[in-house]
Amino acid sequence: MLAIGSDHRGFALKTRLRQWLQRRWGDVCDLGAFSTAPVDYPDVAIPAAEVVRDHLVDGAILICGTGLGMAIAANKVPGVFAATVTDVATARAARRSNNAQILCLGAESVSFDLAAEIVEAWLTTEFQGGDSLRKLAKIRAAERRYAR
Ligand code: RB5
Repeated sequence: MLAIGSDHRGFALKTRLRQWLQRRWGDVCDLGAFSTAPVDYPDVAIPAAEVVRDHLVDGAILICGTGLGMAIAANKVPGVFAATVTDVATARAARRSNNAQILCLGAESVSFDLAAEIVEAWLTTEFQGGDSLRKLAKIRAAERRYAR
């Protein structure tokens, strides 16, 4: 199962994407926002990253105005790789090369149709392993070094 979340600026795109995901991929866990009332993106991104880290979901899609704040916040949770994506080729690379379990979208950067294509590409691409495993292990090692 996937999780999906947004702040107020991502709310409209999240609502459309959630409906599309439910038809196309089945159950989706909606972590809010549940209206256009202002919400700080870390208040959604960090709990979402925690459920991904804890393997309670298979991945998450996070949407704010730019997709940047969601990724910056989610990446503070050790073990999580979140990538902001604005095109289909980068969506494939985010999974194939970076094994990103969290896809971040900017509601003001992508249309609904492009967002759906990006999500589809991310969901249907597999991590390639190989040399990428070594590179991701170096990031995990850095997380451990900087942990208090
Ligand atoms: C919300 O004001 C805005 O900061 C947020 O949607 C996002 O674009 C941040 O990166």
